[in-house]
Amino acid sequence: MLLLFSFLPERASKYALDVDTVFLVIFWLSFIAFVLVVGAMLAFMFKYRARKGDEEPGEYITHNNLIEITWTVVPAIGIFAIFFLSLNAYKKIKWPEEVALRVNVTARQWGWQAEYPDGKKLITGTLKEEKAITPEDFQPLLYVPAGEPVEVILTSQDVIHSFYVPDFRAKYDAVPGRYTKLWFQATKPGKYPLYCAEYCGDWHSRMPALVVALKPKEWERFQKIDASTFNNSLASMPVDSLLAILRLPDEEFSKFVGEQKKAMAALPLHKRGEMIYQRLCASCHTTDGSKSIGPTFKGLYGKTENLADGSTVKVDENYLRESILDPNAKIVAGFQAVMPPFQGQLSEEEIQALIEFIKTLK
Ligand code: CUA
Repeated sequence: MLLLFSFLPERASKYALDVDTVFLVIFWLSFIAFVLVVGAMLAFMFKYRARKGDEEPGEYITHNNLIEITWTVVPAIGIFAIFFLSLNAYKKIKWPEEVALRVNVTARQWGWQAEYPDGKKLITGTLKEEKAITPEDFQPLLYVPAGEPVEVILTSQDVIHSFYVPDFRAKYDAVPGRYTKLWFQATKPGKYPLYCAEYCGDWHSRMPALVVALKPKEWERFQKIDASTFNNSLASMPVDSLLAILRLPDEEFSKFVGEQKKAMAALPLHKRGEMIYQRLCASCHTTDGSKSIGPTFKGLYGKTENLADGSTVKVDENYLRESILDPNAKIVAGFQAVMPPFQGQLSEEEIQALIEFIKTLK
C-alpha cells in the first residue's frame, strides 16, 4: 500500500511517521468512501434506469433503520480514529521532549538567516537566475546534530514566509513582528532541503536552503569552531567542503581552524569585502559593468549616480553605507526598489569591508 506513495519524501524525523499515518489514514478512508458512494451511485443508475414502456412510479420508501444507523456509526468511528491519530501527531509535533539546541531563524525577501547561541551565523541568498533549481543551489542554513531535538525560533523581517523541511514533515510560518517555533529531530545524518512554503513575493520559489544533520563527532567539531572564524571563512562554504573539514583527523582539524583564524585576521579589508560580496550581493550586482537586478559595482565608487526622483548623488562611503542598510532611501534611475535592507544583518566592520571592495572595482 505504501508503494503507491513513493512520491512522498523520505521520512527523516522522529515524528514523520506520525504525520504520514494521519495523511495515509485520511487518504485511504476517503478513497474507500469515494469508491462506495460512486460505486453505489453507478450501480443504482444502471439497476433503476427507466426502461421502455415503464411509466409506473417507483415504490415509496420512508426509511431503513439498519442502513441509516450503519452509515452514521461507521463514518463516526472513522472520524474519531482520525481525531485521535491527529491529536497524537499534534502532541509530538508541538512539544519536544527536551531540546538540545535552539537556533534563531529569520526569513526575509528572499532568503534565510540562522543565528546560533554562540554567535555563529549563516545567511542564504536569492537564486535569481532563471533556471531550474539543482541540488547545488541549496545553500546551508542549519547544521544540527542528528538524533537530537532541535528547536527553531522563527521570525520574519518583512512578510510572512514558511519554514518547510519536507523530509522532516516540519513546517511553520515565519511571521513579522512575532516569534513562532517548531522543533525536529533528524533521525539520521544527511542533507535535507528547506523551502519557503508561503507565497512571499516575486522570488518566493527561489529561496532554497539546506538543513544538514551531522554525526555526533562532526557536531562536536562544529561546536568547537569559534563564531568569528566560522562566520568569516566557513559559513559561506559549500556543504561538502565544510563536512570534509569536520571529518579531518583531530590534529589536522585543530591546525586548520587555527590557520583559518590567523589567515582571516591577516586578510586585507577589501578581500573580506569580496567574500561578503560573493555571499550576499553577487546574485544582483555584477563587478564587470553589466546590468543586473541592481547597478553594477564596477566604477561605482566616485561616480555621480542619477536617481529615480531626478536628482543626482555622488557615490561615496556614506551613500554606499546608506544603500546597503536602507536601499529604498535613494533609488537609482532605471532600477526597481527590490533590494532587501541589510540593517542589523551586517556589522560596521563588514560594511566597511564591502565598501573597500567596491572601491577596488575601478
Ligand atoms: Cu519566502 Cu515564500
